[in-house]
Amino acid sequence: MYKKLEQNFINPNFTDWASLKSDINTATFLGKDKKSALEYFMPSDADKLLKIYTRRFCKIPPTVTLYSTITGSGSIGPHIDHGPLAGLNFYVSAGVDETVFYKKKNKDAAGLQYPGREQSNIFSPDDIDEVDKFVANSNEAYLLDVSKIHSVRKLTNEPRIFIAHLWYEHSYEEVLENLI
Ligand SMILES: [Fe+2]
Repeated sequence: MYKKLEQNFINPNFTDWASLKSDINTATFLGKDKKSALEYFMPSDADKLLKIYTRRFCKIPPTVTLYSTITGSGSIGPHIDHGPLAGLNFYVSAGVDETVFYKKKNKDAAGLQYPGREQSNIFSPDDIDEVDKFVANSNEAYLLDVSKIHSVRKLTNEPRIFIAHLWYEHSYEEVLENLI
């Protein structure tokens, strides 16, 4: 479901993370009661983005790399991602938030559907059981199987900031096998 990576592919001397955020918001998901928001932004500058790495970290390049934030005090409820199958997050600022994975109590439990989306991908807490969780620290990287039900439990108001590398056509297992 997830794997903490031996993170030695991000340049430890890079500090100007805010400069990587552009104004182009590619997606926003609101948490329960709209108390929190998960937002993805295009990187401001492709050349600058390349400067954050010390080396290649996967033989399969991610489909997209996005500057990502979760702001507010609420949680991002249990869901399956829209499109991406695997995500490698480098946490710039992670705080004490928990990333939680679940399984369906009953294999037929159907998720709710976002308007306009084909996939049923939001799940009621009544239909799922927590199976695992992690708390990432800042400057750590985790590979996540975002095709499995997961949530982010935000425990403070500190913004969560991460660089999300997303694969749309390769599974978590494939990406994991191809990490360098
Ligand atoms: Fe997600």
